[in-house]
Amino acid sequence: METISFDAEKRLFVLRLKSSFYAIRILETGELVHVGWGPLPELDENVPLHFQGLENFKDHLFPWDEQTHRYEFPAAGDVLYHDTAIRAIFFEPAKPLEKGEAFHGTVRDLRLRYSEHEITIKGEPEFAPRHGLPTRIETKRPVLAIHLKDAAYAFEVTLFYRLTPEHDILERWGEVRNETRQPVKLDRLDFGCAHLPAHATKLTYAAGHWAREFIPQTQELKQGTFVLEQRGINTGHAHNPFFLIHAPGQATEEAGTVWFGALAFSGNWNLRFECQQNHQICIFGGYGLADFEIILQPGEAHRTPAMILGCSREGIGGASRRSHRFARERVLPDCGKDQFRPVLYNSWEATYFDVSEKNQIELARLAASLGVELFCMDDGWFGARKDGKAGLGDWSPRLEAFPHGIKPLSDEVHRLGMQFGLWVEPEMINPDSDLYRAHPDWVLHYPARPRTEARNQLILDFGHPEVVEHIFQILDQLVRENGVDFFKWDMNRYVTEPGSAAGRGIWRKHVESLYSIMDRLRQKHPTLRIQSCSGGGGRIDFGILARCDQAWASDNTDAVDRTRIQDGFSLIYPTRAMECWVTHEKNHQTGRISSLNLRFDVAMRGVLGIGTPLDQLSQEELAQYRRKIAFYKRIRPTVQEGDLYRLSVAADEGISAWLSVAPDQSAAVFSISVIEHLYGTFYFPSVLRGLDSRAVYRLLDEHEKEIGRYDGLQLMTLGLPGEFAFSDLTCFIRSGTLLLERVN
Ligand code: GLA
Repeated sequence: METISFDAEKRLFVLRLKSSFYAIRILETGELVHVGWGPLPELDENVPLHFQGLENFKDHLFPWDEQTHRYEFPAAGDVLYHDTAIRAIFFEPAKPLEKGEAFHGTVRDLRLRYSEHEITIKGEPEFAPRHGLPTRIETKRPVLAIHLKDAAYAFEVTLFYRLTPEHDILERWGEVRNETRQPVKLDRLDFGCAHLPAHATKLTYAAGHWAREFIPQTQELKQGTFVLEQRGINTGHAHNPFFLIHAPGQATEEAGTVWFGALAFSGNWNLRFECQQNHQICIFGGYGLADFEIILQPGEAHRTPAMILGCSREGIGGASRRSHRFARERVLPDCGKDQFRPVLYNSWEATYFDVSEKNQIELARLAASLGVELFCMDDGWFGARKDGKAGLGDWSPRLEAFPHGIKPLSDEVHRLGMQFGLWVEPEMINPDSDLYRAHPDWVLHYPARPRTEARNQLILDFGHPEVVEHIFQILDQLVRENGVDFFKWDMNRYVTEPGSAAGRGIWRKHVESLYSIMDRLRQKHPTLRIQSCSGGGGRIDFGILARCDQAWASDNTDAVDRTRIQDGFSLIYPTRAMECWVTHEKNHQTGRISSLNLRFDVAMRGVLGIGTPLDQLSQEELAQYRRKIAFYKRIRPTVQEGDLYRLSVAADEGISAWLSVAPDQSAAVFSISVIEHLYGTFYFPSVLRGLDSRAVYRLLDEHEKEIGRYDGLQLMTLGLPGEFAFSDLTCFIRSGTLLLERVN
């Protein structure tokens, strides 16, 4: 199958994916315009995609619309009634002025015209935005590069399209190059944009707040522009840079066409959904517009991060499954060592800042006895860090708590057969720290302006090469001297006073420096693993997931709240990257009491972690933890690697039911959490999906006891027998996890 073709006569590019296509053409004028993006009616790859009659195809009906087009990368130039993906400012005329011409200070008109293109499968790593580390599948993918040039200035934009056809995903990014003899300023630059059919107006996205991340929202786009954005140097709690969109009434969780996309960038991003006056929709995604500028010096180029785009013919669920597979195979780092994410223990809710060699060793011993595989000590172990007021920046052990440093703890954790993890917040500094006293100029600030603190901390200037090098050296030393296997990399504040050695570029530069430190560390220490955390789920996107193995989805560990948060997370990100903890019976954020079953059932949907003060549990409770952790290890391959079917979500009648099916259909894991459903209302049996109809599956409960055998057909038509759906019938909030294993 030819995945990228160019018809020289029609001047048409066709990108062919498994069940969708994307097409672009070059007009007589050299303008590059969008033709279409959507599902293919035929999956037969021998059906040619010729688009007979394309010449009669109109992208406008009315005289005013004739003055513009559906540009592949609308530049501020030509006709400007719609939004634009790039705006360039030239400070000199392109040629000496002719008679009758006046120069008005700047030229803000960019006219991008086709010059040439290349189709290559040598797309990696030369052409791709850097993803830093090896991924599970490294085969080369087809890449189309289309070079566009301004008509008067030696200024070029190259548009890249990289295809992952098996998941119907393409990545777009751009490169801008200034070949003029003067600096050129960009005050807007997107990674890409996507035109949709006019009727696709139903948008699903995630909105939230600290402790309430990823709450799914759906709304209809009306004429005008709807904006999702982040003004910061993390991805943000309020919005996450992804979208799913479909035509009203035309798609559900399991059926219909859904277009989706995401930005692979972890700070100051912007997604604009413009429903234009002709009701055509264009989605623009790129660098945030607040305080943005890039100055390109003569000869300089800038390559943007990627915008990921996909199309599903199997509804929202199909979009999620495509995105999950893409993330597992092509985004998440895969260093070959660990097939599955380890069961983790984290000390935060057990000891908070009061960590010491003694209490951590005690917790580590208990954790190891339960089957935990990675022990992570949270905040409080360094500098003068007795609370949140001091110590950030001083990454050496707090001697009163760790008189011999942290090596004895790390050694003990290793002796117990676990990996050793450590909390760090490397981008931050407390004014009450030795580092700040030595380098007060190393923080973001403006002279003669206050240095606004949040959580008593200031932000290190990652636009300053010396600061970045210092942080790399510190973290490298921590790994080398203490056998650190895992960093919980946290980041906990908004930006104020963005004065930096990198000027206005700091918003972008901060993220680039962050990525560079992580990439360097991991290249130097190939077995090192990193968790992304930013006050919970404030830094989760495809850019950070290319260098972090997993992410802390929320500081909210209440199983009921968490059910909703995880439903939203799963819309685009895979369970393999979703870290979830079981914590106190009476939750520390909400005060709600939840049964152990519910807490485990919800946490076992992703990468299981434990955050309970284990020293306060009875022997009986410890035995329950041990048994449940063992069960989790049994279901883990399917949970972390399976295809996820959301049979229902908490937003529907308060019942969230997930089914993960192993790629070869040999096993499945059913997980239900009934958080709001009115007692006394008939509970519908969960009709499963994705199984093999002819196979017989045996159902095992969390005691690994067989509770029945059913064929795939019965499970996918009549559903699971109701009484098996719950292991926790005595509790008002009911939940359960079942393992289905194929027996024939
Ligand atoms: C943030 C994190 C928490 C914990 C604390 C420690 O809030 O999200 O998990 O690590 O910091 O201060």
